[in-house]
Amino acid sequence: MLADMHTIDIEHAVTVLRQGGLVAFPTETVYGLGADAQNATALQKVFSAKGRPVDHPLIVHIADRQQLLDWAVSVSPVAEQLAQAFWPGPLTLILRRAPHVLDIVTGGQETIGLRVPNHPIAQKLLHGFGGGIAAPSANRFGHISPTTAEAVVDELGAAVDVILDGGACEVGLESTIIDLSRDQPAILRPGAITAADIAAVLDCVVPYSHQDAPRVSGMMLIHYAPRTRTQLVAVHFLPAFLQRLTFEDLPVVCLARRHPVWQRDKLTWVVMPERSQDYAHELYRVLRDVDKGGFKRIIIESVPEDAAWDAIRDRLQRATGSVLHVVS
Ligand code: TXA
Ligand code: MG
Repeated sequence: MLADMHTIDIEHAVTVLRQGGLVAFPTETVYGLGADAQNATALQKVFSAKGRPVDHPLIVHIADRQQLLDWAVSVSPVAEQLAQAFWPGPLTLILRRAPHVLDIVTGGQETIGLRVPNHPIAQKLLHGFGGGIAAPSANRFGHISPTTAEAVVDELGAAVDVILDGGACEVGLESTIIDLSRDQPAILRPGAITAADIAAVLDCVVPYSHQDAPRVSGMMLIHYAPRTRTQLVAVHFLPAFLQRLTFEDLPVVCLARRHPVWQRDKLTWVVMPERSQDYAHELYRVLRDVDKGGFKRIIIESVPEDAAWDAIRDRLQRATGSVLHVVS
């Protein structure tokens, strides 16, 4: 039975974590590459498996909000309110770190990212382990986050000791990150918990951060990127854009929320979901798929401007590393 299998897997996974090994596990957002957050040698392995620069901080996953003070020096009323409203769930809080937290976790910064994931396997793993599990997304640095166990194998293969298979992640995009370590809260990375969700709980608007934060890897322009050249094209410009492709540009694949607007040889069309939650759920899986399809270009039709699409627009802009292609 699946439930029994998970019990066995979890016990083994906990042992592997205690011995300083790496355990990839599902969360509701994406798969994480987990290591004991208090074991510097294990954490080193995370950075080498990912090929990630060591000054990029990791999120520490905890079982519940009662563990916040194990990692943060203090928990403000705002942090408490957000944790109560959204945990377990796809929200990461940046707080001032407790003194014992290892520098390798925080990238030498005075702050720490903390999250309680909402996935039964992640929860069992965290409860079984008891401590914090540092876990970046289980992909090579700069590449697309994995939303299935197969994608973790593709990305990291033998570098991981155990992969817990929880099927496809429900949300499909990384958590919302909110910085509470400064005078004013700021959203560093949009996610499934929207600015409006946060405003409703805090009764005030929290702005997106526009500050230059090079060590927040999610803030780098080209991040979450496929290997194939990927372009974002404005909805109205799409037919003209496709028409202008030359023989050298082909074959191409186009991801759009409508049926084909232009038929031509060597153009593959992928119809993307209409609703933002469904689109988010599918996006990385589709990108990963088409990235292996031997296309010369991936063309993505732009998505709506409203707030429900903020996280998706953010990831699309990063995947393409460019501004929108508009009618010229
Ligand atoms: O949904 C998620 O957040 C997934 C799952 C596995 O929990 N994790 C994830 O981790 O996306 P990662 O490392 O791929 O992205 C975490 C982001 C990075 O951009 C990192 O720089 C930022 O969080 N971060 C972590 N600690 C931080 C801190 N103390 N200050 C600012 N940014 C921080
Ligand atoms: Mg990542």
